[in-house]
Amino acid sequence: MTILVTGARGGISRAVAGQLLEAGHEVRVGGRVPEGDVVELDLARPETFGAVQGIRAVFLYAELGGLKPFLDAAREAGVEQVVLLSARGADPAAADAIMRVHGEAEAAVRESGIPWTFLRPGGFATNRLWWAADVRAGRAVREPFPDSQSALIHEADLAAVARHALTEPGHANAAYALTGPESLTARRQAELIGEAIGRPVSVERQDLAEYRRELAHLPAELLETRIRRLAALTGKPDPTTATVEEVTGTPARGFAEWAADHAADFG
Ligand SMILES: NC(=O)c1ccc[n+]([C@@H]2O[C@H](COP(=O)([O-])OP(=O)(O)OC[C@H]3O[C@@H](n4cnc5c(N)ncnc54)[C@H](OP(=O)(O)O)[C@@H]3O)[C@@H](O)[C@H]2O)c1
Repeated sequence: MTILVTGARGGISRAVAGQLLEAGHEVRVGGRVPEGDVVELDLARPETFGAVQGIRAVFLYAELGGLKPFLDAAREAGVEQVVLLSARGADPAAADAIMRVHGEAEAAVRESGIPWTFLRPGGFATNRLWWAADVRAGRAVREPFPDSQSALIHEADLAAVARHALTEPGHANAAYALTGPESLTARRQAELIGEAIGRPVSVERQDLAEYRRELAHLPAELLETRIRRLAALTGKPDPTTATVEEVTGTPARGFAEWAADHAADFG
């Protein structure tokens, strides 16, 4: 039976759908913008929930406005499993806004009664695509905390864990903390992108006020949470887990490999 992958335009969703199709599974991709093979599915608009008819399992994004209406529709349609893209530290009582949103999403999934698996990644390597325009233009990339460390996860590893959870037994009611294999500073990540494209990429310290102006479109609480996290990981390693390898049987890909896979985005 078919697996529904939500969040069509996201990098993670594309990787999940791609790996499932490659492994021969039937996939329906849902997104807020229906184009090509994408069916319309907006987790905030119940009139689009017809996308869940005939579906066995769902790869689900956390929706800021809450997941209960979608999960009710999924249960009524006979969905047997939900794999939720959550976040490390998810907790409905957290002071950190990102952890709270994902904690609330996890609570809604637990309450739905549908068997679940929670993927709790730390930072995504795809976040570094924010640097791509500057790198392509030959400019330095700008970061407010260039020595802040992160163990970024390759989208292919996150997708591989999702694929195992969606298509094999043994992952029901499991929560997986997922990271890349190594904690690196933003400066080192920029160096590795430079090695992948064959010319150096430098990092300039960005003024915090300018950073706040640039990201003024984000909800203020999310932006301040992000700044606090970056500051907290300056000079401190971001803890890693071995969960990607435990679930998939293959070690997590390092940042150098991610940079090589994305050289065309930066080059
Ligand atoms: N970036 C990180 O480091 C990180 C780390 C841990 C967890 N996360 C979580 O992972 C998720 C994706 O993050 P991202 O950074 O990859 O974001 P992104 O690239 O901006 O992607 C956002 C995704 O959310 C989907 N989406 C948003 N609202 C939706 C709605 N109402 N209905 C259906 N889909 C909706 C979008 O799908 P369409 O536009 O195609 O509908 C798109 O796939 C977020 O929940 C984020 O908090 C991110």
